[in-house]
Amino acid sequence: MKIKKRDIALIALGIVLVLFLLAAPPESTSRVPYDDIHQEFYDIVAAEGKKAAEKNCETCHNPDGVPFPADHPPKFRCLFCHKMEER
Ligand code: HEC
Ligand code: HEC
Repeated sequence: MKIKKRDIALIALGIVLVLFLLAAPPESTSRVPYDDIHQEFYDIVAAEGKKAAEKNCETCHNPDGVPFPADHPPKFRCLFCHKMEER
């Protein structure tokens, strides 16, 4: 079997991903549901990245909408802690 450049790139990407997940906060943090509400953010993340998607979270996730748990940590970067579902 001949190893192609693309394969090496994929393996490297995989390693980076695993390291990133290991370094991230506890796995138990709930993921962003892949449902009708949140599906569009999966597209935004894919197209424009996490920062672009996160701008929209607090239109619903605020004290008058979908409230946060009382002990919620500082929430400036939602997607740093709340991972997207694997697809
Ligand atoms: C249109 C309103 C709306 C927007 C915008 C929105 N959410 Fe939600 N979110 C909800 C509602 C309603 C629920 C509870 C029902 C559900 O699980 O879908 C929820 C639930 C969640 C949950 C909890 C899932 C669980 O396991 O209980 C997380 C985490 C979450 N959202 C993250 C996000 C993030 C991150 C963003 C921005 C990328 C976002 N949401 C944008 C309405 C919204
Ligand atoms: C520093 C890490 C961190 C950041 C940043 C963060 N969260 Fe959380 N969030 C948590 C933890 C920890 C919990 C409590 C455990 C759980 O339910 O996942 C939580 C809980 C939640 C819940 C309730 C989940 C449930 O199962 O009921 C929602 C909704 C939520 N966060 C949305 C958001 C949104 C929207 C943002 C961005 C505005 C955000 N979070 C930013 C760590 C974070």
